[in-house]
Amino acid sequence: MSTLFAETCIGNMTLKNRFIRSATWENMATEDGHMTDKLYAIYAELAKGEVGLIVTGYANIVEEEQPNAGMMGMYNDSFIAEYQKLTELVHSNDAKIVMQLAYGGTKTTHNVGERVIYAPSEVCERGTQTLGKAMTKDEIDYIIAAFAQASRRAQKSGFDGVEIHAAHSYLINQFLSPYYNRREDKYGGSLDNRMRFLVEIYAEVRKLVGDDYPILVKLTASEFFEGGLTFAETRIICKKLEAIGVDAIIISGNIHGKASTMIGETYDGYTLQQEGYFHEYGHAISQDVNVPIITVGGLSDIAAIEDIANRTNIQYFAISRPLLAEPHLIKRWKQGNKAAVDCERCSKCRTKRGNFCVVHKKRKTNLKPT
Ligand SMILES: Cc1cc2nc3c(=O)[nH]c(=O)nc-3n(C[C@H](O)[C@H](O)[C@H](O)COP(=O)(O)O)c2cc1C
Repeated sequence: MSTLFAETCIGNMTLKNRFIRSATWENMATEDGHMTDKLYAIYAELAKGEVGLIVTGYANIVEEEQPNAGMMGMYNDSFIAEYQKLTELVHSNDAKIVMQLAYGGTKTTHNVGERVIYAPSEVCERGTQTLGKAMTKDEIDYIIAAFAQASRRAQKSGFDGVEIHAAHSYLINQFLSPYYNRREDKYGGSLDNRMRFLVEIYAEVRKLVGDDYPILVKLTASEFFEGGLTFAETRIICKKLEAIGVDAIIISGNIHGKASTMIGETYDGYTLQQEGYFHEYGHAISQDVNVPIITVGGLSDIAAIEDIANRTNIQYFAISRPLLAEPHLIKRWKQGNKAAVDCERCSKCRTKRGNFCVVHKKRKTNLKPT
């Protein structure tokens, strides 16, 4: 019997189903990260569409480091009132909402050269070729404190939890990675040392939000390249996260744009799948730890999700692009309509005018009477 629509909990957060809107940068905030009517409307639609938990697009935690245009901000207290309005809107539609917090780092080409961009070491990001500044201990402490302050603001704004973005080649991921992290101090070298930045961020966040507030962490299963973070290391990181009290772990990857060539390939002993790219990795981790595991990437077929739910210990299913195409997808599935999703996984949804499904939009336009 399907348990996808059963009530479950992540920490003290009760969720009405096992579907999550994966963090999705909308490119619709103001230049300095404030809310717009368009953003409120998107979150209202998702909540009305019966997504159990909505994770916001990544929000920057320090004002001077905005890795992308139009992203939400959480770098000072001026955001609290508008996010209170957002969380009330989502709650009034019977959904939960968590804010994703991030320091971008060198995985950016946005306004590079106009600001100092931190990195663990002076190693160019492989995709963007952006070079960062190797952080001093004071700068590390500054970013740790910024994550904690942003989390305090999220709690005050009524968010049901926070998600620390430690995946996709952003700063925390780079600290975990032996490729990006060449440090010789206590933040580099052994895996224990490479994990220290994330562990200290978590500890400082926990101190400010208290024991009962859900803290989620998004990780990359593997960096999928020679010399990068391996899945064996990610498994050890997850055990550490369990030990320190993280409430849920999202297992992602960083294969945007390369998925079609990588699916079916085996890396670190597990295979990337067409339906649920990283679910074999998530399943392996779910057998190691007692923390709810969320899988994300390539989930668009309810029958396939049902099958993963039945075969594995994975508890939650996070979805990004299909919900850009169909914000009411979960409601449709709940009503029993299992027709194919209006998402071609083309990843053309990032546009200068905001991130939305261009294919679906075109189709809708074509349907208009002439
Ligand atoms: C337009 C767009 C924006 C995204 N923004 C974020 C983000 O802010 N934070 C994040 O962790 N992942 C982000 N992602 C990645 C998604 O959360 C997700 O991991 C990825 O798209 C795979 O899931 P899917 O196959 O359901 O789209 C974004 C993806 C897209 C397409």
